[in-house]
Amino acid sequence: MSDTVIRVENLGKKYIIGHQKQEPYKALRDVIANGAKSVGRQLLKPLGKKISEPTVEEFWALKDVSFEIKQGDRVGIIGRNGAGKSTLLKILSRITEPTTGRIRVKGRVASLLEVGTGFHPELTGRENIFLNGAILGMSKAEIKRKFDEIVAFAEVERFLDTPVKRYSSGMYVRLAFAVAAHLEPEILIVDEVLAVGDAQFQKKCLGKIGEVASEGQTVLFVSHNMGAISALCDKVVFLAKGQVQEIGATDRIVATYVAEILQNKVDDIEQLRLAGYGKKVRFSDIRLVSDDGLSIVFGKPIDYILTIYSKCDLYNLSIGSSIFNSAGNCIGSLITEETFSLHANQELTLKLTILNLSLAPGSYYAGFSIGEGGLDATSRHDLEAVIGKPAFQILPMSDGKNIVANWNSNWGNIVFKDISFRLDTN
Ligand SMILES: Nc1ncnc2c1ncn2[C@@H]1O[C@H](COP(=O)(O)OP(=O)(O)OP(=O)(O)O)[C@@H](O)[C@H]1O
Ligand SMILES: [Mg+2]
Repeated sequence: MSDTVIRVENLGKKYIIGHQKQEPYKALRDVIANGAKSVGRQLLKPLGKKISEPTVEEFWALKDVSFEIKQGDRVGIIGRNGAGKSTLLKILSRITEPTTGRIRVKGRVASLLEVGTGFHPELTGRENIFLNGAILGMSKAEIKRKFDEIVAFAEVERFLDTPVKRYSSGMYVRLAFAVAAHLEPEILIVDEVLAVGDAQFQKKCLGKIGEVASEGQTVLFVSHNMGAISALCDKVVFLAKGQVQEIGATDRIVATYVAEILQNKVDDIEQLRLAGYGKKVRFSDIRLVSDDGLSIVFGKPIDYILTIYSKCDLYNLSIGSSIFNSAGNCIGSLITEETFSLHANQELTLKLTILNLSLAPGSYYAGFSIGEGGLDATSRHDLEAVIGKPAFQILPMSDGKNIVANWNSNWGNIVFKDISFRLDTN
């Protein structure tokens, strides 16, 4: 394979899922209420009897995926929620086995997948650094050389001798990232962990990934942040429903992906239902409140209705919400200040309204997260995030005389409305 470092051939990953065709949440509640035994019994019932009964279904999270990555490539992996991105990274990191096909990976891989992989909870930060280095095949002396840099990057000096299970999720991810990026892997695999840290740490991570890539190491990076993908990657694999939709140069593929989001081509509700599988809490529906559910006239509030379903008791939750423009860049965000709780198997509907946002005419899409841990960015972490829904249009006001009615996309995404202007003649 000469300079090919990763070769993926006809890769497939099948999961068996138990689910319900209609009213999934209500029935899931009933199933849980009936106890574990009856879950087993119900799941084993033959398929297709009554539509409202739980059924067992084979589900291909990845199907027929083939591609090659060369030494030094910086590859972005993008796609809607549930497209199979994390599954692909887990297979490449050998955390899970493929059902069909095969992969060949040449070189030492350091991967940073979701929180919890790679570290041993009972061991201290210090011990985990050495353990991870050893797993990567480094000598003690090599690890020692990198040790201070890792600790400084992660900003965990004070907690080095604390078991990592006592870390906040922010600290945990900082250390995990620092270890993965500094221990000189030949291939660095990163799955969206940047979403967890605060803005400053995210910036630091992106900088570090860029540095690693410029040293000739191969980088695979999953993100919903098209700005980060465009800045870091020279090549993109676009996954849709478990299959490769397109592979190619970053600019072209990002543009295709964003155009698809804006056209709402995917069956969103089905996608949401599948993407939330296995998570503690998930969005079961996200809607824009407007006559057609797709457009809002400039200057009117942006109104969303969010439906959340939780499998367990959760406290101190807040909603994060962002808006992305048609180039895929995040143009603004909020975190709700008022927190709320959810009981096990509870479905909750929330209304979120953004007032006085003078979003310019154009196409946009939203992203939402459910976070635990309040407003403090160092302790808050996302339990669930959905990006790309809803996509909507801001319509110009129609009197034809003002700047809004004639808005040009080169002028940006915000109309400055409340200004003061006067001729100053002294
Ligand atoms: N252990 C599992 N059992 C059953 N289904 C699973 C399992 N893990 C993942 N899936 C399903 O496989 C599909 C692909 O999941 P994956 O996590 O790879 O998506 P993703 O592209 O990373 O999505 P996201 O953008 O939300 O992170 C989803 O529909 C998911 O629900
Ligand atoms: Mg994922």
